Amino acid sequence: MYFEPNNLSTKDLHQLLLGIVAPRPIAFVSTVDSEGNPNLAPFSFFNCFSSNPPIVIFSANRRVSNNTTKDTLANVIATGECVINAVSHQVVRQVTLCSVDYPSDVNEFVKSGLTPIPSDLVKPPRVKECLAHLECKVKEVMPLGEGGGAGNLIICEVVRIHADPSILDENQQIDPHKIDLMARMGRAFYSRASGDAVYKIFQPYIASPIGFENLPETFKQSHILTANDLAALASLESLPTDDEIAEMAQEKEVKQILEQADYKTLLQHYAHRMLTMERKKEAFMAMLLSIGQ
Ligand SMILES: Cc1cc2nc3c(=O)[nH]c(=O)nc-3n(C[C@H](O)[C@H](O)[C@H](O)COP(=O)(O)O)c2cc1C
Repeated sequence: MYFEPNNLSTKDLHQLLLGIVAPRPIAFVSTVDSEGNPNLAPFSFFNCFSSNPPIVIFSANRRVSNNTTKDTLANVIATGECVINAVSHQVVRQVTLCSVDYPSDVNEFVKSGLTPIPSDLVKPPRVKECLAHLECKVKEVMPLGEGGGAGNLIICEVVRIHADPSILDENQQIDPHKIDLMARMGRAFYSRASGDAVYKIFQPYIASPIGFENLPETFKQSHILTANDLAALASLESLPTDDEIAEMAQEKEVKQILEQADYKTLLQHYAHRMLTMERKKEAFMAMLLSIGQ
């Protein structure tokens, strides 16, 4: 099935795009107007686009329903500043309370029960309950169209980063489990980056992986290994040597498996299990043993 953007209403096109370009990080943006009145609103058309200089961009779109523009857009045009507050699970409901189309004079800090605290280098306050903040100077605002649904890219240079010590690991790096970030998907769906949803994929960048083309065809026909398993095997830097395979065949568990009638299937399950522990070489060797090599 395919869709032509020109044949869809903006509303349907919007939802289709948002369902596919997901999960999206959420910028919880604080701004002030020219009189210093604060405003808070979430924006999931958001990402980091450059580290040198540090540039993040979010988009405050024209409303699809009536083609009006948002307070956040007016404020960044007036003041050239904003703060992007990180959205952890513990604040997500308060964040969504700030997405209501309140009149411009409504203070979303009051509506949501969140606490403003001063920033160091810009006028918009930070949100105390958020665990990380990016103080930003707006470099450019780029309108992408004039109709309802058109984006306005707000290109921000990050001038100071605040991270609550509670979200850092022992190396002073952000621990994804501790920051517990939320992301927006299509319609009313959100996703929480925690528990089993957060895991590591090790892929060395420097070495050259053996690639799918060097996997034996029989590996690819396995009903036990998944496409991700095969890709993990293809990411190995070198093929195991005959000595390594012979040595593995002598290991207690492998030896016991090789004595079973259905050793081929059992070895493939063993390979799958090794891959869940990132033990790629052992998995590769188990697969070779399963095909009698
Ligand atoms: C999680 C979430 C993400 C949102 N992302 C965007 C977005 O990327 N762009 C946008 O224009 N509106 C987005 N909205 C809607 C705005 O938050 C909403 O229009 C808000 O009222 C704008 O506030 P303002 O007029 O005070 O700037 C989002 C709402 C939610 C709940």
